Amino acid sequence: MIKTSDLIWQDTQHQVLFQLIDRIREVPYDHEITNKLKLYAEHHFVLEEAYMIQLNYPHAAAHIQAHDRFRDELTAMIQADPDMSQAFQEMLSDFLYEWLKLHVLGIDKKLEDFILKSASK
Ligand SMILES: [Fe+2]
Ligand SMILES: [Fe+2]
Repeated sequence: MIKTSDLIWQDTQHQVLFQLIDRIREVPYDHEITNKLKLYAEHHFVLEEAYMIQLNYPHAAAHIQAHDRFRDELTAMIQADPDMSQAFQEMLSDFLYEWLKLHVLGIDKKLEDFILKSASK
């Protein structure tokens, strides 16, 4: 049984993701940060995906595909410039920030509404 209060995890985890993305632009660059982001994003995606599967969410396939694109793009971007120039740090941080903002306000919001609706049944 899902309670409305359970959805706090989603907001909290999004805040942590935004904070990690913000730290990518910090100088001196923390070489662990993209890995931390990758691990935390994975932890978050897996949880959302578990909810989708458990609730038979009708848009699960597209949402999981969006997560997969983020997984792939983050990996590709890390490999593209392992030395992390400051310009690249800023570019990566901006790109991920925009991606996450659109994702959170778009399909994550739809998922949240669906989870809340399922919880009130
Ligand atoms: Fe999310
Ligand atoms: Fe998501």
